[in-house]
Amino acid sequence: MAVLKVGVVGIGNIGSVHAETIYSGKIEGMTLAALCDTDPEKRQWLKEKYPTVPVFASHTEMLDSGLTDTVIISAPHKFHPPIAEDAFRAGMNVISEKPAGVDVKTVEKMYAEARKSGKTFGIMFNQRTDPLFNKAREIIRDGRLGKPKRLVWIITNWYRSQAYYDSGSWRATWNGEGGGVLLNQAPHNLDVMQWLFGMPQSVRAVCNEGKYHNIPVEDDATLFMEYDGGAVATFITTTGEYPGTNRLEISGDRGKIVIEQGVLRFWSLSEPEREYCFNAEGRPLPTLSEEKYESSEVSGHMLILKNFAAHVLHGEPLIAPGYDGVNELSISNAAYLSSWTGRKISLPFSEEDKEQFLSLLNEKRANEKAVEKTVKEEAKSSSYKKRWQVQW
Ligand SMILES: NC(=O)c1ccc[n+]([C@@H]2O[C@H](COP(=O)([O-])OP(=O)(O)OC[C@H]3O[C@@H](n4cnc5c(N)ncnc54)[C@H](O)[C@@H]3O)[C@@H](O)[C@H]2O)c1
Repeated sequence: MAVLKVGVVGIGNIGSVHAETIYSGKIEGMTLAALCDTDPEKRQWLKEKYPTVPVFASHTEMLDSGLTDTVIISAPHKFHPPIAEDAFRAGMNVISEKPAGVDVKTVEKMYAEARKSGKTFGIMFNQRTDPLFNKAREIIRDGRLGKPKRLVWIITNWYRSQAYYDSGSWRATWNGEGGGVLLNQAPHNLDVMQWLFGMPQSVRAVCNEGKYHNIPVEDDATLFMEYDGGAVATFITTTGEYPGTNRLEISGDRGKIVIEQGVLRFWSLSEPEREYCFNAEGRPLPTLSEEKYESSEVSGHMLILKNFAAHVLHGEPLIAPGYDGVNELSISNAAYLSSWTGRKISLPFSEEDKEQFLSLLNEKRANEKAVEKTVKEEAKSSSYKKRWQVQW
C-alpha cells in the first residue's frame, strides 16, 4: 500500500507529538522517514529515541536526502514560509503548523511557490474537525440560519501563565514570534470564524500589549468586523483571564446558533424575522423550534494528518487547505494595523496596507529590548495536549 514518507521539521512541543504519532503507526498512509531540528540537544535526544530514523540539522539537508516526499513544518511561525518554499521547490507535499506565517505579504510569496509546485498543501487547523463547528457550518450552508446578521465570539479561555511565556526565547516577542494571542492561540478561532461566516470587509481593533504579562506583544484583543450584506462580528480574546469563556453566538434572519460549554443550540424561526418585522400587525412572535447537539471528543490533530494522507493517496477532500491560512492571518494583521494606527482596515489588504503593516512590525522588532527568559519548559511531548484542543 502507498504511504507518504514524512519528514518533521522542528521537534518541540507539537513537532515531537506529530513525530511520535506517525512513528507509532497511528496515521494510516504516513510513515516517519526523517526528523530535523536546529537544536543539537534535541537531535541527540531524537537519535536515542528513534535510532532507525535519520536526523538532520537543517531542513535543506533533509530535503536533499531524498528520504521524504512530505514535510510537516512545526518550527516557530516565521520559519513556516521559507521552509515551505524550499520544500515545494524540492517537490514535497507540505503540512504547515498554524499560523501560515507572520505577515500576509510573505505568505502570498509562499503560495506562489506552492502553486508552481502543484503539490498538496495543508495547514494544521485541527479545530476545524470539532463536531459542533461542523454542525454550525452545516446549518449555515443549508440556509437554515438565513441571511447572516451577527457573530459574537468571546474566546477568553486561552489562559497562559508568565512561565509559559518565559518557556522559549522566541515566544511572545516581536522578533521571535511576531505577535501575541492573535498570532499564537486565536488563529484557530479566527480561522473557524471565517470558515463559518466568511471574510470581513473591514476590521477595527484594540490590541493591548503586555496588559496581563511581562511581554511586549498583545495578550488581550477586541476586534469589530463588518461584512458584505451588512453583517457584523465581534471577537474578544485574551490569555489573561481566568476562568475564561468560550461562547460563539451567530444570528441570522431565520434563527440563532449558540455554542457554549460543549453544547450547540439552534433556534429556528417559523418565518424569517425581517418578514415578520414588517408584516406582524399585532400577530404573536414567530414560534421557535430548538435543536440541541452535544460535543464529542475528537483528536483533531490526528484527523487532520489522516485526512491529508487520504487526500493525497485517495483523493478525499482536504479539510484544511494550506491556502486558507491567509484568511485568518489577514484578519489578525488587519487587527494589529488598526490598533497601531487607529484606522479601520479594509480587506482584502491593499498593497499599501501590507507594506505599512510590515514597516510598523519591523519598527517594533527594531525597538524591542532583548527579553530575559528564565524558565525552561520541557518542549518534548508524546501526546497532544488538552490545551491544544477545543476547550468548552
Ligand atoms: N496546532 C496546534 O494545536 C499547535 C499547538 C502548539 C504549537 N503549534 C504551532 O507549532 C509551531 C511550533 O510551536 P511549539 O510550541 O512546538 O514550539 P517549540 O519552541 O516547542 O518547538 C519549536 C522547535 O523548532 C526548532 N526549530 C527552530 N527553528 C528551526 C528551523 N529553522 N529548522 C528546524 N527546527 C527549528 C526548535 O529547536 C524547537 O525544537 C508554532 O508555529 C505553533 O504555533 C500548533
